[in-house]
Amino acid sequence: MVSVLGRRLMQAATCLSLFVGWDCALAPAVAAGQPPATPADFCPPSPVRTDAMDNPSKHAWDLFATLVQPAVATDPKSRGVPDCSRRPGAPGTTSVWETWKLADSEVFKDDGSYPADWTDANDERHLFGQAPGQQPGFHEQAALSARFNTSGEGVYIGSVGGLGETYMNKATFDFIRTNCLYSRDGLARYAKAVLDKAVGPITFPPESIEVKAAWVQFTDAEIGSGVPNNFYSIVLYVKNGQLSSGQSTGATKVVFGLQTLHILTKDVPNWFWATFHHKIFAGKPLPSQPGREYPDTAQMPASLAGTVWENYKLGGTQVNFVDTTGSPIVLSDAHIENGFVNSSCISCHSYGGWDKKAASPRFFNPLNTGLFQIGLPNQEPVPDGAVLAKSVDGTLVPWPGFPSANLQVTRNNVFDDFVQTDFVMSIPFRAKPETAGPPPASCPFQK
Ligand code: HEC
Repeated sequence: MVSVLGRRLMQAATCLSLFVGWDCALAPAVAAGQPPATPADFCPPSPVRTDAMDNPSKHAWDLFATLVQPAVATDPKSRGVPDCSRRPGAPGTTSVWETWKLADSEVFKDDGSYPADWTDANDERHLFGQAPGQQPGFHEQAALSARFNTSGEGVYIGSVGGLGETYMNKATFDFIRTNCLYSRDGLARYAKAVLDKAVGPITFPPESIEVKAAWVQFTDAEIGSGVPNNFYSIVLYVKNGQLSSGQSTGATKVVFGLQTLHILTKDVPNWFWATFHHKIFAGKPLPSQPGREYPDTAQMPASLAGTVWENYKLGGTQVNFVDTTGSPIVLSDAHIENGFVNSSCISCHSYGGWDKKAASPRFFNPLNTGLFQIGLPNQEPVPDGAVLAKSVDGTLVPWPGFPSANLQVTRNNVFDDFVQTDFVMSIPFRAKPETAGPPPASCPFQK
């Protein structure tokens, strides 16, 4: 199969050879009697893996463009399939990333049971966002989920009005499902096998991608002045404290907009991390601290110009704990990392795992169990006594000039009782005990 990029190169080559000196874009239109033009192809070229290290800002934008491409449909059979005939941000469309598996309801089930297949409709579906412009049909067909229910599994973003949610692509989902990392018991089984050296560390396949989206609820003033029109957004109705997609008598309209999109891909061993946010900070109250960002050294792809997605900015990217000078990278988003802005994606995520001593999933600072310290979440500068840690192979990367006498952990054996989930935090954070009964026989490492 010829890739989109390949097709474009071929088109360009044909165009050059047949219409030398012409404006190629005009050529098909003016050439009367030519065969009909091929259907429009708005799908962006596939991101190039080596750009993760070589040109990270460009890589982030290429990923972003691929993910915000409209999806063909939001039924389970069509998960992740882009509709190349529609422009990104076309009114009423839903983006590809929103059709992936939703971590809350479709991967980490309340009863710790085996998730349904990628294309299976048995899992609870959820509401979908949309580019502004038309009333889409998608909301009507979607079942209501806990997505905007703060007492449910949606992650409430600090004290800031809004919610976060995680989506997984097929490679990520299949790895979690096949290895039965969707439950706490499954994580414990796998971790024990790692500690017993029956299997290597948890390592996701290179095709894995996850996103975390943060949505803010617009104020009435913002709605009145048309702010939601510039956001990828969702319209809901609330009545007696319940949210629904349909309007009914006495229901109040509430509008949420996509504020931040975190993107995580296994393009490199420590994953490639990128964060995008809307250029306007919306909702109330606003975060108390700004995020910690880096300059965008690339540019938004031209294909996004004039669409709702042109309102989003790259906050930064990360591929390692430290930069080329050995200084720790501090990267965060004001909304999602509200309260933890002085950390970095990689530092914080390296805490995700299973701790044999505590016999529990673990995330955030495990200082009190003497595990290890990493560029601590929300501490700046990183205090004496802290070290940066590398995960997969267990190598610790010390803070430059770190007074080793203050080291509060034993460097040897630091990873003896702790198994990391390859930076994937949703496993220790969201997995539940297997209360529905034993896992399928296909789950590995069962006694
Ligand atoms: C202070 C700790 C912390 C920092 C800093 C942090 N995260 Fe997270 N992140 C978490 C936790 C906890 C979760 C799991 C809860 C959830 O799914 O919302 C998570 C979940 C995610 C997910 C969902 C995938 C998964 O399972 O891990 C993505 C994607 C993500 N974060 C990206 C980022 C990016 C990009 C950055 C840096 C800009 C970042 N995170 C910084 C703590 C952090």
